[in-house]
Amino acid sequence: MIYDLIVLGGGPAGYLAAERAGHAGLNTLLIEKRSLGGVCLNEGCVPSKTLLHSAKIYDYALYSKKYGITCESVSFDHQAVIARKNKVIKTLVTGIQMQLKKNKVTVVEGYGKILGKTREGYEIGVNDKTYIGSRLLIATGSAPVIPPIPGVKEGLEKGTILTNREILDIQKVPESLVVIGGGVIGLEMASYFNSVGSKVTVIEMLDHIAGNTDRDISNILMKNYERKGIVFQLHSKVTEIRKGEVVYEKDGQKISVQAEKVLLSIGRKPVIEGIGLENIGIEVQRGRIRVDERCKTNIPEVYAAGDVNGRSMLAHTAYREAEVCINNILGKKDIMRYHAIPAVIYTNPEVASVGETEETAKQKGIDFQVVNLTMKYSGRYVAENEDGDGICKLLLDKKYKKLIGVHMIGNPVSEIIFGAALMLETELKIDDIKELVFPHPTVSEIIREGIFNF
Ligand code: NAI
Repeated sequence: MIYDLIVLGGGPAGYLAAERAGHAGLNTLLIEKRSLGGVCLNEGCVPSKTLLHSAKIYDYALYSKKYGITCESVSFDHQAVIARKNKVIKTLVTGIQMQLKKNKVTVVEGYGKILGKTREGYEIGVNDKTYIGSRLLIATGSAPVIPPIPGVKEGLEKGTILTNREILDIQKVPESLVVIGGGVIGLEMASYFNSVGSKVTVIEMLDHIAGNTDRDISNILMKNYERKGIVFQLHSKVTEIRKGEVVYEKDGQKISVQAEKVLLSIGRKPVIEGIGLENIGIEVQRGRIRVDERCKTNIPEVYAAGDVNGRSMLAHTAYREAEVCINNILGKKDIMRYHAIPAVIYTNPEVASVGETEETAKQKGIDFQVVNLTMKYSGRYVAENEDGDGICKLLLDKKYKKLIGVHMIGNPVSEIIFGAALMLETELKIDDIKELVFPHPTVSEIIREGIFNF
């Protein structure tokens, strides 16, 4: 049999593409080596949010006094939290299995490798069997970057150094945790383990945390976590990891910090090795599969979506890229746009942003105006965030009178940012945004409040 489409990898890009393709009537095969849902569902986005939700409830209980409630004998059961996390994953993986079945997608479990191309189509080998597809979508995702720092290899083997996969499954809260890399994974995990009692140190190479996040916002986030007891070592370079300690260099000095466990979260890289890209000549550029705006590779009828193309490396980008691939396969015009993809860090307080930061807008020579408001303009925020120091920053393109960036810190901005993304994506003019009605009282009103300052 020749499949209309073979999808390699069952993460957000792969499973959604397979679902959409099956729904459209394409005879589709999905190959996954581990578990449907990929890193996002099994060892990333969803499990980390499950853990963070428990930590948030625990935090509320511990500090409930400021909301007029007294909780006594509050305790945290990490193993129960992990068990619940596994239940959540199981529910969602089952949901994906059902969706794929409903859309008549054939799922094969095993490691898929591109073997070559014949006149009939692309040949993919899985478990000693060969499958043929007239089209191919590569969605093999990404893996953690493992640096050549002395002691890392041994630590990973011994289980003292963990990546996102292992840390989401540890059965005991470590007394001390050193997080290498103050990016999204590092901060979310630092947040959880700080809440549940570990002594957490974050070692970051740059002079700020949270990568490309607006600098005022990353500073507020860092101050919040310093108040909660996390130690940040910025401008610091890890040089060695020994048994029970991490050695790093800061201002020319060698310093060491105790660590029962170490989390390695210095970034992820596309999975491009061992999948046979060379067998059909797929072009790779700077460690990623090169794709055009339709997510097409240099080889006809071969697409690449999600982390493997390295364009944005976010699960929600992967979903959209998957749809772009399938629409193009179906002959519908569709292209990827990356300027209005929201980004969220699920710390407590949450951070959410979309579009240009002041830094990128300056680099691009855009003539822009900034409004920076305290979240306290929102009644709902004040009611629900005692001692909250959140802000909302809006960037307006002065020439075109449209919003080009929105950056927020405070709860629950993760649920609000899509509205800002919609404004950017549809290029709403500022005067049109002023006519929108926001529900009251909500934290989202902060955007309306900010817009009126332009
Ligand atoms: P990241 O790229 O977000 O952060 C890595 C950090 O490590 C950077 O700040 C970098 O300067 C630092 N670093 C690099 N080498 C270092 C070294 N040797 N010593 C000290 N610091 C060093 O990468 P992260 O956190 O591993 O996340 C990986 C991917 O997962 C990202 O692409 C992200 O988009 C995705 N992700 C997204 C989430 C979300 O949307 N909420 C949550 C978790 C992950």
